[in-house]
Amino acid sequence: MTDVLDKDFEKITLKKIGAYFGAEVSGADLSGEFDDVTFSEIHQAFVENEVLVFRDLIISTDDQIRFGQMFGELTVHPFSPNSDKIPELIIFDNKEDNPPFGTDVWHSDETFRQCPPLGTCLRALDVPEVGGDTVFASMTAAYQGLSDRMKNFISGLEAIHDFKPFKQLFDDDDEGRRELQRFELMYPPVTHPIVRTHPVTGNKSIYVNPQFTIRVIGMNEIESRSLLTDLFDLAKIPEYQYRHHWYNKTMVLWDNRSVQHYAVHDYWPKRRQMERVTMEGDRPFSSEENVIPDALKSRKSPQPIGANVNHGGHSPKRQFVRDLD
Ligand SMILES: [Fe+2]
Repeated sequence: MTDVLDKDFEKITLKKIGAYFGAEVSGADLSGEFDDVTFSEIHQAFVENEVLVFRDLIISTDDQIRFGQMFGELTVHPFSPNSDKIPELIIFDNKEDNPPFGTDVWHSDETFRQCPPLGTCLRALDVPEVGGDTVFASMTAAYQGLSDRMKNFISGLEAIHDFKPFKQLFDDDDEGRRELQRFELMYPPVTHPIVRTHPVTGNKSIYVNPQFTIRVIGMNEIESRSLLTDLFDLAKIPEYQYRHHWYNKTMVLWDNRSVQHYAVHDYWPKRRQMERVTMEGDRPFSSEENVIPDALKSRKSPQPIGANVNHGGHSPKRQFVRDLD
């Protein structure tokens, strides 16, 4: 059965691909400049569906870069394999002598930054027939699935994020330690709310991840570890997931403010070539703070959507979960 969404769109067609989130976009030609209406519709589809899939694209690297720039400034990842010519472009060329590094763990991209990227756009150039999927988890759905007691408990809490997994990239010698210290000064640990409010939709999501989140502020070590483990485990619940199998010429755009992802490393040592651009985002906030919605809109964003994400008209709470109170 095909679920066609948002029939009001003029320029694009959306097909639902996950129960709570995820949609496939067709009808948009991304191989050049596109008009404001097309961008506005794609942007609305992006924030409402959290993950967008574009298939059978005949586009160039420049087209992908231009597409990313419609959403905001592109960022340069401090630790990834960036292109020499275009530092904003990350080139993944994983193969036998270049195994994938550090992406087989649940995360939202670069939450060690004060202003983590709002979205990531990844395009498959040459991918294996089997394996190498990316699994996404809607942390909006995960939040909505919590009991009211748990929502109240984590409301207002903050956690520290740190680029810890990348520290092993530095050599264990004087020069390596000096270099690491330089990066630690550039990217000191940052504090983000555990419940993040999406700046466009206003939806709340769980904003901690096992790759970068190290501690809950105001808790002792045991309490912090225990709470973080429980929250990290939410991404593993299949009902909150959409698993994407890649084909060449497919591009996926995901909203780092509302989803986490996990790149499955089961394809290695086969070759997998992808290109990625990442768009600068806002400083995460929780709606318990004072919010001025107009000031929080991303550059080039259309008018705020306002409506909550429908998640296909279903409550994301799993059917067998009952409130215990
Ligand atoms: Fe990632």
